[in-house]
Amino acid sequence: MAIPEQFLDELNARTDILDVVSGYVTLNKKGANYWGLCPFHHEKTPSFSVSPDKQIFHCFGCGKGGGVIRFVMEMENLSFPDAVANLARRVGMEVPQQQYGDKERRQRRERVLALNKEAARFYHRNLERPQGAQVAAYIGKRRISRRFVNRFGLGAAADAWDTLIKAMAAKGYDKADLLEAGLAVAGKNGGIYDKFRNRLMLPVIDVRGDVIGFTSRVMDGSAPKYLNTPETALFKKRSILYGLNYAKNTKRPNMILVEGNIDVITLHQAGFDNAVATMGTALTEEHVRILSRYTRELVLCYDNDNAGKDATQRAIALLRGAQFAVKVLQLPRRRTDGGELVKQDADDFIKYQGAEAFEGLLGRSENSVEYRLGEVRAKYDLDQDEARAAYLQEAAAIIAALPSPVEREIYGGRVAEAARVSAGSVEQEVERLRRRRAKEARRKEERQALTPTMSLQPARRELRYTNVRSARAEEGVLRVLLLDGDYFDQLEGLEPSMFSSPLLGKVYQLLLQRHQAGRPCTLSALEGVLEGPEMDHLTAVLQAPLSRGSAAQALEDYIGVIRQEAEGRGGLSQEEELLRMRARFKETKGYGGKGQ
Ligand code: GTP
Ligand code: MN
Repeated sequence: MAIPEQFLDELNARTDILDVVSGYVTLNKKGANYWGLCPFHHEKTPSFSVSPDKQIFHCFGCGKGGGVIRFVMEMENLSFPDAVANLARRVGMEVPQQQYGDKERRQRRERVLALNKEAARFYHRNLERPQGAQVAAYIGKRRISRRFVNRFGLGAAADAWDTLIKAMAAKGYDKADLLEAGLAVAGKNGGIYDKFRNRLMLPVIDVRGDVIGFTSRVMDGSAPKYLNTPETALFKKRSILYGLNYAKNTKRPNMILVEGNIDVITLHQAGFDNAVATMGTALTEEHVRILSRYTRELVLCYDNDNAGKDATQRAIALLRGAQFAVKVLQLPRRRTDGGELVKQDADDFIKYQGAEAFEGLLGRSENSVEYRLGEVRAKYDLDQDEARAAYLQEAAAIIAALPSPVEREIYGGRVAEAARVSAGSVEQEVERLRRRRAKEARRKEERQALTPTMSLQPARRELRYTNVRSARAEEGVLRVLLLDGDYFDQLEGLEPSMFSSPLLGKVYQLLLQRHQAGRPCTLSALEGVLEGPEMDHLTAVLQAPLSRGSAAQALEDYIGVIRQEAEGRGGLSQEEELLRMRARFKETKGYGGKGQ
């Protein structure tokens, strides 16, 4: 690891997790811990806890946990070294230059970015060349103007196997560079060939203006229609919003989320410079976090087909906790010359109905409650009593989930009107559902309180326990050691190899090493070494109660269980067997070791 451990220890010692978290979350003290609403998932009652003693956070709702560095990484969407730099700045420490991040990796990253930029220029210039003529014609067919071709840096990949490779070689980029950037693919004979051939090229540009990768479209009906740069540290689809580099500067009061890259371009061209798209993937929490930095309102504009409706409902559910308002713009279907009704996307709509009509739709876009009620409404024929009853049921469930009584009254009134029943009866139904929800929530909370976290398995399958009895004891040992470093002297030769859980064994070993080196033994000190899901699990493990008074006895019991289970597995090495015998010998005060 690039950042020296001593530096991290010092940083951990000087940083108080409570201070840092308080900058983002309102916390209240309850018992030994502080509680607040989890910033990583949406909730109405606090299940996010910060322990100043242990210097960790843990959310009982979503399971996320870790030390202060992990918190900043997740919160600010930063890499480990960047989060360290951020925290160091807070306390006035300086991360030594050559230790900042992995220097070599940073240089590789810079090189790939430079190569991407060169490649984008090359593809763009191809539009003026014979090998780009077909793509240029296709761009004309899609009615993208010269100005927006330039603005979005569109280009052409020739119908050939090595034109990009050759052009980039002339600029000093070699095989390894091209493979790393995902611009070339390794062939069977050890050679490489251009990944993108005979395609319209769309550079993907991040908010800093760097070309982080490409997406590309075929011009005939062949598959795949769109082809992207492969997933790398630089090109992570779960956090890419195409068009955000321009949309972040919009003067409009909101952002429009559309399905396709071309939709983004044609919307920008039509004056909607607030359009963005994911890379053909569903909206993620990462997207939401990024969007919340740039806008106060998001308008969902997915296709008006089943897939688009599903995506809209899923996005609404995901956005429930977002810090910005959510609206839905519904694109109408279009009647073809043949009289057939077909779905259309934003690009089609602009093409057939024009920008002004789109502005109208945008102005009439509904909030997410209206949209969902409308979708339910459309399912039923309200002239039939049975359908009316079913409609009321479904609509009341949506209304019951609204936190604001004013909203419940407004929408309740509308639903009553649509179903031709009294507002009072809708209200009654909504209240009944709310009571039921409250009861369910209480039950769930009670269940959670009764079920110690410790009876849970780690969420990640790779971390699952194979020997639960031993793993519980292993968890216990770690809890005792993290509670008080004095217990390191009472381990009776317990070896990491006796642990049944690789994760717990690894942590045990790391703590032993740190203890021997006289360094702090806390969970947050291990942040550079453990991965997110590992941290999540360990912070959960640390939540189980443990009293100082009973720690010594508990430790002894835990060690006994671990040994017993390890023996059962036949997992003890000769050396461990010896240690075990010596421990027993000690137990019987050394009188021959045969007293039991
Ligand atoms: P056009 O046909 O060019 O107008 O594209 P569209 O945006 O109307 O197409 P569609 O609704 O099929 O796709 C929406 C988005 O999904 C695209 O912009 C891509 O980001 C993504 N997508 C579509 N097809 C593929 C595919 O074959 N592979 C990948 N990786 N992504 C795709
Ligand atoms: Mn389209």
